[in-house]
Amino acid sequence: MDQLIVTGNGALTGEVRISGAKNAALPILAATMLADGPILIDNVPHLHDVTTMIELLGRMGVQVTLGERMQVEVDPRGVHTLAAPYELVKTMRASILVLGPLLARYGEAEVSLPGGCAIGSRPVDLHIRGLTAMGAEIRVENGYIRARAGRLKGARIVLETVTVTGTENLMMAACLADGETIIENAAREPEVVDLARFLSAMGARIEGAGTDTLRIQGVRSLHGARHQVLPDRIEAGTYLVAGAITRGKIMARGACPGVLDAVLQKLREAGAEVTVHGEDIELDTGGRRPSAVNVRTAPYPAFPTDMQAQFMALNTVADGVGTIAETVFENRFMHVQEMQRMGARIQVEGNLAVVTGCETLTGAPVMATDLRASASLVLAGLVAEGDTTVDRIYHLDRGYERIEEKLGQLGAKIRRVRK
Ligand code: EPZ
Repeated sequence: MDQLIVTGNGALTGEVRISGAKNAALPILAATMLADGPILIDNVPHLHDVTTMIELLGRMGVQVTLGERMQVEVDPRGVHTLAAPYELVKTMRASILVLGPLLARYGEAEVSLPGGCAIGSRPVDLHIRGLTAMGAEIRVENGYIRARAGRLKGARIVLETVTVTGTENLMMAACLADGETIIENAAREPEVVDLARFLSAMGARIEGAGTDTLRIQGVRSLHGARHQVLPDRIEAGTYLVAGAITRGKIMARGACPGVLDAVLQKLREAGAEVTVHGEDIELDTGGRRPSAVNVRTAPYPAFPTDMQAQFMALNTVADGVGTIAETVFENRFMHVQEMQRMGARIQVEGNLAVVTGCETLTGAPVMATDLRASASLVLAGLVAEGDTTVDRIYHLDRGYERIEEKLGQLGAKIRRVRK
């Protein structure tokens, strides 16, 4: 397994180009199966999760061709297998996103239950309940979701919890259902909006994307389209925190600032000067130590849970005491004990972490447990004295394109070693 060795090396400065959003590219790739014609998708990030989704689609018969740079051509007209096997789904939970499209387009799907992961049990009961409300017959047995349906019927669905992929699955299924589907308490994440834009480009009739109420009029078929994936706000936020934690100055190019308000506000509270220039975001700490901030995660547009670990790292070396409340996932503090090995002072009580900032951390061997936790350990390594060896970085490769290259360009001392 690969490791990253990060050596504290002072302030990061320079420019970083933000890639396409993983959590938009994944549902968009799954949604191609709804179409009767070829699709062209631009700005697809080169990530392990995207490769897994492309492999899954390929196994079902979808023709996927990787163009030059980040372009992907998809021809969904050859689908012959309506199943997503466990050995692929267990490596990427987002495989559940093929359930809605398969059911809506082919009336049948057999998708492995994703199972839990380090950050929580990650149930999919709301996906299943919503599709059942649309007329699907769903049995969950032997670790698989076996679903069948004639043409799905429009329904009014009230989601008891805001669920991003749940909203996406139901929105995709509703596009080809008979009649109108209303989804209440829908997720408002920008990635849901980007998926809605893509579905509309294929001829879907969707209103309310970005609000908590989606209204979808089912149509008989969807045609091919071209779409550019929106920038990855979490990648952008991660690099801005890299600038803040090292007391540097970063320009994030093509960062889509309009969907990062909650994160930019917290970076300003931490004492950084944050300026938006069109689609670029400039962060300048003036060489100052960050101030501790209080963070509470919640569904968009509130502070994103996918930025929680990164701000935990920031607080470990900030001036003062900061609190981190995680309200979305039940076990998303796995990075705490790893940071404590680096000298961080963190007290955890339930879903609340109280972080007392230290002047500095000390490098140590640490282990990544999930995607964003691994990013936070790299951030901590950027300011720690000496070497920090981050193990199990396959988590990182799932969600960050060429992270050591991008950080290296900003002045970080970071290298990948094969173990
Ligand atoms: C999406 O996961 C993202 N993944 C996650 O990003 C992100 O952390 C999460 O949304 C929250 O923003 C993708 O988009 C591929 P949820 P998702 O369903 O959809 C509960 C990353 O780092 N719930 O919004 O799986 C669930 O347990 C990843 O890129 C149910 O109870 O998350 C959780 O407490 C990590 N029943 C809450 O809802 C369900 O049927 C929010 O989960 C579904 C969810």
